[in-house]
Amino acid sequence: MTISASDMVGSPSFWQTIGASRRGVNLCAGSAGGCARRVPANDAQAPDRHWRRRAAPLGWRKPKEAPMSQITFVALCGSLRRASMTRMLRATLPELAPEGVRIVDVEIDDLPLFNEDIRAESGTPAPVKALCETIAAADAVVLCSPEYNRMVPGALKNAMDWISTEPGYPMSGKPVSVMTQSPGPRGGNMSNYAWRQVLSVIGAEVVPGPDVSIGLMEDKVADGKLVDEAARKLVSRQLGQLAAWASAG
Ligand SMILES: Cc1cc2nc3c(=O)[nH]c(=O)nc-3n(C[C@H](O)[C@H](O)[C@H](O)COP(=O)(O)O)c2cc1C
Repeated sequence: MTISASDMVGSPSFWQTIGASRRGVNLCAGSAGGCARRVPANDAQAPDRHWRRRAAPLGWRKPKEAPMSQITFVALCGSLRRASMTRMLRATLPELAPEGVRIVDVEIDDLPLFNEDIRAESGTPAPVKALCETIAAADAVVLCSPEYNRMVPGALKNAMDWISTEPGYPMSGKPVSVMTQSPGPRGGNMSNYAWRQVLSVIGAEVVPGPDVSIGLMEDKVADGKLVDEAARKLVSRQLGQLAAWASAG
C-alpha cells in the first residue's frame, strides 16, 4: 500500500495515540496489523485489558491454546559487517530457542535512510514493506545489537524509524527481546537500555527479566557462534521468557 503525506496528516500519528493512551484511551487506536491482534481498536474494554496485561508478571499468564510449534521470532541484527559478533549471537539463537520456536533472520542493509519524501514521492520502499509484513506476521522480535558510541546503532534505528511510521505500526504490542554484545566488559548495556527507550515509544513490549548484555564477546565466540556456557544460558532463558510472553497473547 502506498501512503502519501496527506494520508499522514489526515490520520492520528502513533505518537498521538501514545499520548491518548496516557489519558486512558486505547493505546493502539486507529492501528491494525500486529497491534490489532492484541488490542482491538474498536473494543471499549481494550485499554484496561492492555494495561492489566502489561502489569501481570509472566508466571501469572495463561498460555494461549496454540502450541509452541506455531511461534515465530524475527531476529534482527544491528551490525552490517560480515564478521559481526552480533551476527554470531543471532546465528546461535535457533539452537538456544525453546522447542517449536522458529527463528527467521531478516536483513536490514537494503533499507534506504529514513526520509518521508521517499514515501510521499514513490510509496513505501519494497524492503521496508517486506520487513513490516514479516514483523507483523511474527509472534515476537529479537533485536541483536552492538553499541556504538554508547548508543544504538544507526542502521537498526533507521529500520525502527521506518517501521514506526508505517500504517499498522507492526512493532506496536509486539513482544521484543533486546540482546546486546560488546568486546568491552559491559556488553553494550547502554545500547541495551537505549533500545528500551526507543521500543517503548513505538509501543513494543520489551520482555522483562535479566538483561542480555554480553561483555568480552571476543572470548565467547568460536566458529561464528556464541559458545560461552553462561552467556548461552542467559540467552536461552530470555528466549524462553519471550516465548512465554508471546504465547500469553
Ligand atoms: C563507531 C563505533 C563506536 C563504538 N562504540 C562502542 C561503545 O560505545 N561501547 C562499546 O562497548 N563498544 C563500542 N564499539 C565497539 C563495538 O562494540 C565493536 O566494534 C563490536 O564488535 C561491534 O559489533 P559487531 O562485531 O557486531 O560489528 C564501537 C565500535 C564502533 C565502530
